[in-house]
Amino acid sequence: MLIGILSLGPKLYTTRRLVEAGRKLSHKVRIINTLACDLYVERGKPTIAYRGKPLKVPDVILPRIGASITQYGLTVVNQFDMMDVPVVNNSVPIARARDKLRSLQLLARFDLDVPKTLITRRGDDLDSCVERLGGYPVIMKILQGTQGVGVMIAQSRTEAASVLDAMWELGQDIMLQEFIRESKGKDVRALVVGDQVVAAMSRVAQRGEFRSNIHRGAKGKALKLDAAYTEAAIKAARVMGLEIAGVDLLLGKHGPKLMEVNSSPGLEGLEAATGRDIATDMMAHVVAFAEARQRGWQKQRLI
Ligand SMILES: Nc1ncnc2c1ncn2[C@@H]1O[C@H](COP(=O)(O)OP(=O)(O)O)[C@@H](O)[C@H]1O
Ligand SMILES: [Mg+2]
Repeated sequence: MLIGILSLGPKLYTTRRLVEAGRKLSHKVRIINTLACDLYVERGKPTIAYRGKPLKVPDVILPRIGASITQYGLTVVNQFDMMDVPVVNNSVPIARARDKLRSLQLLARFDLDVPKTLITRRGDDLDSCVERLGGYPVIMKILQGTQGVGVMIAQSRTEAASVLDAMWELGQDIMLQEFIRESKGKDVRALVVGDQVVAAMSRVAQRGEFRSNIHRGAKGKALKLDAAYTEAAIKAARVMGLEIAGVDLLLGKHGPKLMEVNSSPGLEGLEAATGRDIATDMMAHVVAFAEARQRGWQKQRLI
């Protein structure tokens, strides 16, 4: 099978590991630079040119779309989908996952526990909003942030109001969220592949830091997940429509609270913490997904 990985960074850890794993499984793997794809939209025959020349169309696409090119990246993913190439993950679930509030709306709707969250455009309502979240401190987040950038904590009304003013002035929406005290500085990352959690780790923040992102210096440690956490992670991925998902959960007093779902989860922290070859699990699933789709299409054609 020819597997195409959409990525801007052939040297990035996760991309390198996925290429290695695909080859180990005896497949051809090609890195496709997302921004080198020209997309032709014509009646009945969507086409992609690569660096101006016809592209050898892969049997399956694994997108690794960074936050810097979400829009173009999603368009490229969708073009492959329109060409009937299986894509893992597809563009609509990726778009959902890129917006934290949109994700939480969906997760909460399907009865998953999430930190109480709200969004407003009225400064006058700040007090009633914060009261509903259980008072200060509150977490404030931009909807599209990653790696901990854009996540703030406000200890008082003055702090919260000044953040709101600044963000609104910049034309930026910001959500307010209940601070889960008992999980301060720690959370859980579960990697869901298909309908299984293939690896998990706990992350503990650096001293003096409330954000437990590996990029903010947090340390990861392999973790055997409780059933409640495993079930919540798998359900979250399913509700979002993601075949592959890095699900982040806070450790609530009464069980897991879904915080966010990442559609292009990195492997570096998780492979370091667990010492396992998780790239191969991921690639094996990509291949199985493509094979199932091919079988499905053959059946359709017979009908
Ligand atoms: N409601 C919350 N309560 C406690 N800690 C939080 C809360 N929201 C975020 N955090 C901390 O901040 C980190 C980053 O938040 P997150 O929403 O995952 O943003 P990012 O996408 O930038 O990683 C989390 O890993 C967690 O440690
Ligand atoms: Mg996060």
